[in-house]
Amino acid sequence: MLKDADRIFTNIYGWNDAMLAGAKKRGDWDNTAAILKLGHGEIVERMKASGLRGRGGAGFPTGLKWSFMPQEVRDRPHYLVVNADESEPGTCKDRDIIRHEPHKLLEGCVVAGFAMRAHVAYIYIRGEFVNEARRLQAAIDEAYDAGLLGKNAAKSGWDFDIYLHRGAGAYICGEETALLESLEGKKGQPRLKPPFPAGVGLYGCPTTVNNVESIAVAPTILRRGSDWFAGLGKENNTGTKLFCISGHVNKPCNVEEEMGIPLKELLEKHAGGVRGGWDNLLAVIPGGSSTPMMPKDTCETMTMDFDALREAGTGLGTAGVIVMDKSTDVVKAISRLSYFYKHESCGQCTPCREGTGWMWRMMERLVRGEAEPHEIDTLYEVTKQVEGHTICALGDAAAWPIQGLIKHFRPEIERRIAARHAGDAVAAAE
Ligand SMILES: Cc1cc2nc3c(=O)[nH]c(=O)nc-3n(C[C@H](O)[C@H](O)[C@H](O)COP(=O)(O)O)c2cc1C
Ligand code: SF4
Repeated sequence: MLKDADRIFTNIYGWNDAMLAGAKKRGDWDNTAAILKLGHGEIVERMKASGLRGRGGAGFPTGLKWSFMPQEVRDRPHYLVVNADESEPGTCKDRDIIRHEPHKLLEGCVVAGFAMRAHVAYIYIRGEFVNEARRLQAAIDEAYDAGLLGKNAAKSGWDFDIYLHRGAGAYICGEETALLESLEGKKGQPRLKPPFPAGVGLYGCPTTVNNVESIAVAPTILRRGSDWFAGLGKENNTGTKLFCISGHVNKPCNVEEEMGIPLKELLEKHAGGVRGGWDNLLAVIPGGSSTPMMPKDTCETMTMDFDALREAGTGLGTAGVIVMDKSTDVVKAISRLSYFYKHESCGQCTPCREGTGWMWRMMERLVRGEAEPHEIDTLYEVTKQVEGHTICALGDAAAWPIQGLIKHFRPEIERRIAARHAGDAVAAAE
């Protein structure tokens, strides 16, 4: 288990003062100017050496991403944009960072912004996070009052401003380019890439979009050293990570743990175990609703890191761990997710706009067993037609849960179809 001394988010449960006085006691804003004295390039190099991979879902190396920003500011300003949209079902970690550790995020913005030669950061927060937005704005205000933001931020010689922007509650606005469109006051629809945001981002200027957790851990990494962070977790999957554990466990929670912790240990040590005991486990969605589920057998030995989960045909995603015990109607559960993705598709690409609706309607029929067995293959084929054929990854996110269901629970779908054919509608829907 992660040692307390290695914990980054020491107030993630909000047991102590979340605001500036409490944050300073925890070490936030402690000589931030000394970190900036390292220089733009050195900060990027140290972040690369730490091995931090983005915590927003895709796991892209953070230092490398920062290095894509132009090395000098020419005719256009640079921007840091923080993605606080957190709409992936099963994910609730950024919310707790904002509620209980807002100054880690703000200091992270100064450090990351400086590294990429930006004087401004925008934090785009999901509209439903009303109290979180209030808390964050209060933290921003007190940071300005204390001279930590604004001109000569934290006496570093670098001017830095942070603006908080509230979204209107669309899942797609979490996709980085849709987020930029929305920030610019337009409809939140993803942009075609290239050009990538580091070249042409917010208002056509070089921009880096990072998740809240990716930015909030940066100051601690730079204070304690890349080697410290790289020494935690596993090779290529370093450091600590906030896991969000929900569903059929005795004590759902958010917890910071080492990357690569065995799933079973994560659930038993921190979430009070599976409801009814480990043998009552049916499946786990490991990384937010878009990642394919794993059946109990796979969960037995699985470790929670990007590479192991990818090898098992799923992903760490946002580390939103959704646990389903044997009482779960697994077909209905995935059908509900299909409805979510259909509802949230922005409609720009035909495979996603039409495919998400088609897949959801098919899933609803499968819930009731109203299908022919060969239609399971047709559905799988359609998921493959959507996956990888769209502007953004929402198409993949809609396809993967269904693929996971068919791969691991095909006999259950077939059982329902057979029951329906035998005239037993009740058994088919159970
Ligand atoms: C449909 C969709 C929704 C997304 N929602 C979020 C989100 O709510 N928060 C987030 O940080 N990243 C989200 N992402 C990922 C972002 O596009 C982007 O990769 C991420 O913010 C980069 O941050 P990172 O490099 O620090 O991980 C989403 C991606 C897609 C395709
Ligand atoms: S994949 Fe879906 S959500 Fe993404 S751009 Fe295309 S239609 Fe919009």
